[in-house]
Amino acid sequence: MKCDASNEVGVEKSQHNCNEQSAIYQLHGIDPSRLPRHVAIIMDGNGRWAKKRLMNRVVGHEKGSETVRSIVTACRKLEIEVLTLYAFSTENWARPKAEVAALMLLLKRFLISERETLHKQGISLQMIGQKEKLPDDVKQVLDDTILYTAHNRKMRLNLALSYGGREEILHAVRKIASKVRKGVLSPGKITEETIASHLYTRNLPDPDMVIRTSGEMRLSNFLLWQAGYAEFFFTETLWPDFTEQEFVGMVKKYQDRDRRFGKVVCSSNDGSQH
Ligand code: FPP
Repeated sequence: MKCDASNEVGVEKSQHNCNEQSAIYQLHGIDPSRLPRHVAIIMDGNGRWAKKRLMNRVVGHEKGSETVRSIVTACRKLEIEVLTLYAFSTENWARPKAEVAALMLLLKRFLISERETLHKQGISLQMIGQKEKLPDDVKQVLDDTILYTAHNRKMRLNLALSYGGREEILHAVRKIASKVRKGVLSPGKITEETIASHLYTRNLPDPDMVIRTSGEMRLSNFLLWQAGYAEFFFTETLWPDFTEQEFVGMVKKYQDRDRRFGKVVCSSNDGSQH
């Protein structure tokens, strides 16, 4: 049981609730020593969930917020260190104005209503993406919540907001280019670590699992650099119907996968390297 380790993300394992962890691991046959450190989720299918019920798409997003709550709690129970949720992409700004406004309002409400619960669970809230593009009132609530939960070390909840993987890489390239121009960095010294350390996700481990709900099998501009060796999980379930049970089942399947990171692990001579 890893109930007392800490690491570079600043996330520490709890002492007090080992029994609760033990129960969830035993119930689902999860090996606590081989948990994914970072789970990233593309929450898809809110609109279709609502359409199936002849409801406005916004109702699907509202129901989707409830799933956010339950999956955050599930990650905390499992002692997963980082959960990144793709809540609003750079492309989502092109949706109808009313839907964008409803999503921003939902986000604000979520932050206000969940702040104390996140804090009590020892979760720190962070974001990745273009914070400057968010409406002022959302930015304010976001900053307040980030500050309020900043010292929590049990888990990090990372919201991808106005986030796009290509924009993130572009942003990093501009920062690196500016250092080269100032003469503080030489082009030959730029490494993969240099790039990683200029991304929004600096200081975070790469995602071990990327999950997408609703049957779509695309990355949709999510964590393009970081997901290089992630294990992918797709489900037909629409995000509002996604449950803790299905999520834990995916974690269990993750533990059955053979992660080789491009290396040959066993004595097979089939030349496979992926
Ligand atoms: C994709 O479904 C979902 C989104 C673009 C937004 C995700 C937002 C939430 C889950 C709720 C608010 C977020 C938080 C963090 C409280 P879609 O609208 O593309 O669905 P569709 O593909 O079926 O149309």
